[in-house]
Amino acid sequence: MRIIVCENYADMSAKAAELVAAQLTLKPDSVLGLATGSTPIGMYSKLGELCSAGTADFSEAVSFNLDEYYPIRRDDPHSYFTYMHENLFSKINIKEENTHILNGETDDPERECEAFEKLIKLHGGIDLQILGIGRNGHIGFNEPDAVMNSYTHMTRLAPSTIKANSRFFRSADDVPRMALTVGMSTILTSKKIILMASGAAKSRVVSELIGDGINLTVPAALLKLHSDVVLICDKEAYRGARLGVDIGGTNIKFAVVEGEEIKLRKSIATKDTCNGIIDDIASEISEIRKSYDIKAVGVGTPGLIHDGLVTAINLPFRDTPLESLIAERTDLSVTVDNDANCAALGEVVFGGTKDCGNIVLITLGTGVGSGIILNRSITHNGGEMGHMIIEAESSRKCGCGQYGCWETYSSVTALVKDAEEQAAKNKSSILYTLSDNGRLTGKQIFEAADKGCGTARAVIDRYIHYLAVGIRNIINIFSPEAIVLAGGITGQGDKLLKPLIRELPEDARVEISILQEEAGALGAAML
Ligand code: GLP
Repeated sequence: MRIIVCENYADMSAKAAELVAAQLTLKPDSVLGLATGSTPIGMYSKLGELCSAGTADFSEAVSFNLDEYYPIRRDDPHSYFTYMHENLFSKINIKEENTHILNGETDDPERECEAFEKLIKLHGGIDLQILGIGRNGHIGFNEPDAVMNSYTHMTRLAPSTIKANSRFFRSADDVPRMALTVGMSTILTSKKIILMASGAAKSRVVSELIGDGINLTVPAALLKLHSDVVLICDKEAYRGARLGVDIGGTNIKFAVVEGEEIKLRKSIATKDTCNGIIDDIASEISEIRKSYDIKAVGVGTPGLIHDGLVTAINLPFRDTPLESLIAERTDLSVTVDNDANCAALGEVVFGGTKDCGNIVLITLGTGVGSGIILNRSITHNGGEMGHMIIEAESSRKCGCGQYGCWETYSSVTALVKDAEEQAAKNKSSILYTLSDNGRLTGKQIFEAADKGCGTARAVIDRYIHYLAVGIRNIINIFSPEAIVLAGGITGQGDKLLKPLIRELPEDARVEISILQEEAGALGAAML
């Protein structure tokens, strides 16, 4: 199931309308399955606008509605017949004869349902089914206690549905007790499904959709069996807690996120065996689950991930199936990704670049790491930017075997190495005086420059120059809205940023991460 979480109801409606319009562009004679209720009203009004603007064309489309109350007169203001004409059909160019709604006036409901099911089949089935969801998880009028392998049929409404839908009537007593509805099988045989959910009242059922397993008391959970479902919901409806785990060489960080709200952050020391790490993660997760209803776990790890197997140089992972190891121990759905990718995702969701869809995160540390976010999602096409060659004729050999990688110039390791070499050549320099027998830290190098040391200044200037060269390449390749820098050295703030920006195009947006090492676990939670 693809999940799109929108800022609010209006965004959700616009997104869903866009998908329907796209479906009609791809297949103008699409068979659409349509829903009623308050949820799709915004989408219908957006479709009306798109149709008037000529960007959605229903002239060849065919529609089948999910359900209708029974018995009900078609001209009753509460009938779904009236609803559909008021909210959609009057606003778009669909042909009246191409619209189909179960007839609530029939005196032979069984025959009506049979004929409706046959007609759907005659049209080749539903191409795109739009669904809302009842508070009790019903779709169409397939209530929690109904038979799930059903085709179009008459059903008795659940008391909870009568209560929920009474808001459209004068009182609960006026809500019809029965309804005609397409069945779960009719719905599940649709080619594509868009399920919409809005508001906090839907958060419980939405969490059943995003969580593990299939809860048979929630009819919509059966949609997990379908291979092409898009859940479009707003933030209010999307409330399940997610846990992010960021495995580092020194610490393992945990973050619990609900919606986009950070609920908990925690850190423990990293053990030096694979089993030790998995044991610790599993027991922390079970501890955290005592306080939070965790639906999914995301894990960030350094290293390479191939076919679910993780190999990391600085951790005891060699072809380790991290995802399944943690899933087996916790019985939760687990997603593993590279830690820099997770941190980049964390930056775009929780950091200073929340307003951006496309960013590149560069982490400056022992090496140079990177994560690319395009359209607010991790992209796995590329991303080893620390290994782009920045000096073709360089004699600097990188750990990867190449010469002249960006990492050999712009990592903190490279900065320290350069500074130590220069200090050894200039033993009278402030830089050497500040060193511990020639050994330096990044902080000491900046301190020496602050004290007026020319040697330190030259080392820093060169470092920043190469940093700028790499960033200029990234801008040329991706033109991201922003580049975010992270890593201990970015604690130097403006001392790093100001001279760097001077070497970059005027409109380049480069920022220092406000999340720093917290970004990884937060981003992992959003995987
Ligand atoms: C009715 C319809 C359903 C719809 C549900 C949710 O019961 N039969 O198809 O999904 O209401 O309604 P709302 O969107 O108003 O919450």
